[in-house]
Amino acid sequence: MIDIANDSINRIKAEVINCKLCSLCTKRRNAVPGEGNSKAGIMFIGEAPGRNEDEKGRPFVGLAGKILDETLDKVGIVRSRIFVTNIVKCRPPGNRVPTEDERRVCKNYLEREISIVSPKIICILGRTAFESLLGGGSILGNRGKFIAKDGRLFFLTIHPAAIIYNNKLRYALEKDMQALVMECRRLNIPI
Ligand code: URA
Ligand code: SF4
Repeated sequence: MIDIANDSINRIKAEVINCKLCSLCTKRRNAVPGEGNSKAGIMFIGEAPGRNEDEKGRPFVGLAGKILDETLDKVGIVRSRIFVTNIVKCRPPGNRVPTEDERRVCKNYLEREISIVSPKIICILGRTAFESLLGGGSILGNRGKFIAKDGRLFFLTIHPAAIIYNNKLRYALEKDMQALVMECRRLNIPI
């Protein structure tokens, strides 16, 4: 059993790195725990590690990560002040969407990350995180919205990787992030 009071981001990290709870462990090079400021006011949640993340053991360090970093820079969010993680911590082969089973099994790590960091706002990046955390559907139809649930505020936007396939979405992501920054200022959340 996890002793909640003594749980920590480092402890989760150590467990994730050695985790064999689902079959994604057999194909990974490195598991990818969440990283960043463990007292962050905003947490960003993506889908799953891709090839670069699997190689480095760190979230959002490939092309999607570059787009995320550029967008954060543009709107004035400092990456070291936030916390960045994923729904599942190991790369699904060929970057397929993680299955419901994989998400369910891996969820204990994400839930613990959320409860330790206790962010004021959780920024959902893309459909998989929307579906897994809020039971949502289309992200394009819901992007830019804030949703209050379980005493937390969620913000919905598109996944940075979507911009690789459709550059027009870059503007939508930036616009959403600007709205997020405005809300952070209003709520005095340090970014
Ligand atoms: N896409 C994700 O959802 N997460 C990452 O860490 C990288 C790419
Ligand atoms: Fe464990 Fe999650 Fe990796 Fe599956 S995806 S092996 S549950 S860390």
